[in-house]
Amino acid sequence: MTTDDQTSGPLTLRVNGSAYQLRLDYRTTVLDALREHLGLTGTKKGCDHGQCGACTVLADGRRVNSCLLLAVAARGAEITTIEGLASPDGLHPLQAAFVARDALQCGYCTPGQICSAAAMLGEAAAGWPSAASASLIPEIPQAGPVTLDAAEIRERMSGNLCRCGAYVNILAAILDVAGDMARAEEAR
Ligand code: FES
Ligand code: FES
Repeated sequence: MTTDDQTSGPLTLRVNGSAYQLRLDYRTTVLDALREHLGLTGTKKGCDHGQCGACTVLADGRRVNSCLLLAVAARGAEITTIEGLASPDGLHPLQAAFVARDALQCGYCTPGQICSAAAMLGEAAAGWPSAASASLIPEIPQAGPVTLDAAEIRERMSGNLCRCGAYVNILAAILDVAGDMARAEEAR
C-alpha cells in the first residue's frame, strides 16, 4: 500500500468554531492533527496512550483523549481546545482560577486539566454520578446536580495526571469555580 492509499479524502475538522479542510493519513489522531497540521500546540502529548490526560479536548462538549481519537472519526464533531475556551470577554473561569490559585508548575498538564475540568463541571451539573457519589449507594439515589466537594473532584479528575504534583492547587482552583457555579445557580 502506498502512502497515498493511506491518505484520507478531503476531511473537514471543526475546531474552536472554524472548519478546516485537511488531507491526512487515515491513522492520524486528533491530537496530531491539531498540533502538526493546524498549529494548535496548546493541546499536549504526554503518553500518547490514553494514560495521562495531557491531550484532553472537548468533542461536542464531552472530554476525550485526543491521542486516542482518530481525526477521521471526529468528522462532524465540534472540537474545542484550550485555545478555544476563552471568550472575547476574557479567560474562561477555570483559566482565571488556575492563574489565581497558581495551579501549575511546568504547565504541561494544564491545558488538559482545564479542558477536562470544563466538561467535568457540566457532567456534575447534569447529575452524572462518579465512584465517589452517594448515588452509587442504592439506598441514596442521586437527584439533580452533584455537589462537587474535594472527593468528587479528585475522583472525576483522576484521569488527568500532573507530574509536578500541583494537585493541591488544581483542586482549589476547580473548587473555586464549582462554588461560584453553585452560588450562581442558587441565586437564579
Ligand atoms: S497523551 Fe493522550 S492520554 Fe496521554
Ligand atoms: S504542572 Fe507540570 S505536569 Fe502538571
